[in-house]
Amino acid sequence: MHVTEVTDGIFRLSANAKDILFEGIWPIPNGVSMNSYIVKGEKVAIVDGVCGWDGVPETLFTQLDQMKIKAEDIDYVIINHHEPDHSGWLDDFKKIRKDFQIITSVKGEALLEAFYEITDNIRTVKTGDTLDLGDGRVLAFADIPNVHWPETMATFDTKSGTLLPCDAFGSFGAITDAPYDDQLSDEQIEFFEQEAVRYYANIVAAFSLPTSKAIKVVEGLPVKIIAPGHGIVWRKNPQKIVDDYKRYASYSKGPAKEEVTVIWGSMYGMTEQGVRPVIEGLQEGGVVVHEHRVPESPLGDILASVWTSTGVVLAMPTYEYKMFPPMAAVLDELGKKKVLNRKAFRFGSYGWSGGAQKELDEITQRLKMNWDFLEPVEFKGKPSPQELDLIKQRGRELAEAVKSLVADAPGA
Ligand SMILES: Cc1cc2nc3c(=O)[nH]c(=O)nc-3n(C[C@H](O)[C@H](O)[C@H](O)COP(=O)(O)O)c2cc1C
Ligand SMILES: [Fe+2]
Ligand SMILES: [Fe+2]
Repeated sequence: MHVTEVTDGIFRLSANAKDILFEGIWPIPNGVSMNSYIVKGEKVAIVDGVCGWDGVPETLFTQLDQMKIKAEDIDYVIINHHEPDHSGWLDDFKKIRKDFQIITSVKGEALLEAFYEITDNIRTVKTGDTLDLGDGRVLAFADIPNVHWPETMATFDTKSGTLLPCDAFGSFGAITDAPYDDQLSDEQIEFFEQEAVRYYANIVAAFSLPTSKAIKVVEGLPVKIIAPGHGIVWRKNPQKIVDDYKRYASYSKGPAKEEVTVIWGSMYGMTEQGVRPVIEGLQEGGVVVHEHRVPESPLGDILASVWTSTGVVLAMPTYEYKMFPPMAAVLDELGKKKVLNRKAFRFGSYGWSGGAQKELDEITQRLKMNWDFLEPVEFKGKPSPQELDLIKQRGRELAEAVKSLVADAPGA
């Protein structure tokens, strides 16, 4: 990985992480990049740190070498966000150098002590505060709390109009040669759009309200370049990632796209018999269908497709007087990620007295999900041909409902 110049005096350093579970939970089949930025005036600042899992901090120091910058040359360390994927290198950095100043948000100060035992040489900043690096380079700071932790802020280079927002506007997807939107084909941009959806759904989703607020803050700045802590740098069309993030944030409350995600689990194939019919009904109704079986499908993939779906089908049997456990776990996480106001349909098999529906109601109410369900289809043991027809019909009804919700949405 090589250092690249974002714009005159700002450089991107990066490492890719692969073969890990991000946050210890989320599979990242296409990896993720971890970006850091060097900003040069007369003084030098580093914004967030290249950290990760591939020989860091060596990665950071190797890239500084490429730039002929020694760690000792860095005057300011700006920590936009204290999650260790951005700040974890501080432990090593402070062994090399003791006298640098850390710039962080007011809430960041306590985290510096908690994670790195750093209590000295800290300057706390809030929205509107600036740092003059000399040579006409003035950095301005803006709090964007809860994108993703409470202390998160963005750094804005007033000279070039470059925004360094850390997790905001980020995406999954390792980056090899070309980290800039102006270097990428439409297909590559589309790839990073998919990776951004999954990143958003897995990492940012629960903070959609703060994200919407952060977008308003950003829109108040004369931004020309967006250079996030993960993913590609937007130099040609920064508005695209802002618009995409606006859309992703709006999907929390729905409606999202004309898509339906079918999540199903089955022990002995009874519930499974309804899966093809419901998908046929949905497809006849003209919506895009995503299918996930639990527990086989990774939760991160399910979240990504539910995030862009206006409708959800849940198909699961009763298990020990409750819902099939992997489905309960998925539903619980969907609620915690604030997948709200979905149009939904549930069907499933039971043996004697059922119980899945009761737990479904309990979870959706407890997490205030406000999902609007079509009448469920529950059957004892094997579904009859009439029940299978009914499931297919519900699929068509759900597709119709999804299409009209999307058509009626503001801005549709
Ligand atoms: C471990 C286990 C627990 C079950 N618990 C219940 C239950 O509490 N109440 C009930 O009505 N049926 C219960 N059943 C019966 C299943 O709901 C029934 O066999 C159903 O047809 C399974 O559908 P599937 O093949 O889609 O998994 C249980 C079955 C198993 C294997
Ligand atoms: Fe984060
Ligand atoms: Fe991050």
